Amino acid sequence: MARLSRTRSDASAANSVNSLPPTSGLPDVGKEQGGGLGWGSILALALLIGLCSSPCAQADDAELGRQVYDDVCVTCHGRDMINPGGVTFDLRKFPKDDFERFRNAVLNGKPPAMPPWRDKVSDDDVKLLWAYVRSGG
Ligand code: HEC
Repeated sequence: MARLSRTRSDASAANSVNSLPPTSGLPDVGKEQGGGLGWGSILALALLIGLCSSPCAQADDAELGRQVYDDVCVTCHGRDMINPGGVTFDLRKFPKDDFERFRNAVLNGKPPAMPPWRDKVSDDDVKLLWAYVRSGG
């Protein structure tokens, strides 16, 4: 049974690992999906992470901005900037060419409901947040 439903990508992954015969105890990942999500996608993911880790970590300001956002802004402005509704500004619609307005709103707040973040976020954080907002989430 386990053998019949073994996917093609399972089999080829097993074959490419010389020390393991095709039927040795590889976990039945992807067994229920019937292909597609087996070893192939796991390998692809591992490859992506491997390729990306060092250059991407430095280059991706938007990703760093997301971390700041998740720390201090997400409660009001919503996960992935998807506005939970109500009174908060929908940041996906913020004009992407108006850094000054953004900076000013973040550092000084916007009464009554948007608090000032001057003491909590640095100038650098504002730039990262801006990269994140411009990325559109
Ligand atoms: C306590 C809830 C709250 C938190 C936390 C919060 N905001 Fe806001 N924010 C608001 C509300 C409410 C508004 C709408 C204010 C208005 O237009 O009257 C707003 C508006 C804004 C605006 C639009 C200002 C404008 O020029 O119209 C920006 C930009 C913004 N927030 C960015 C941020 C960022 C970045 C963070 C995290 C550092 C953050 N906010 C955290 C509640 C919050």
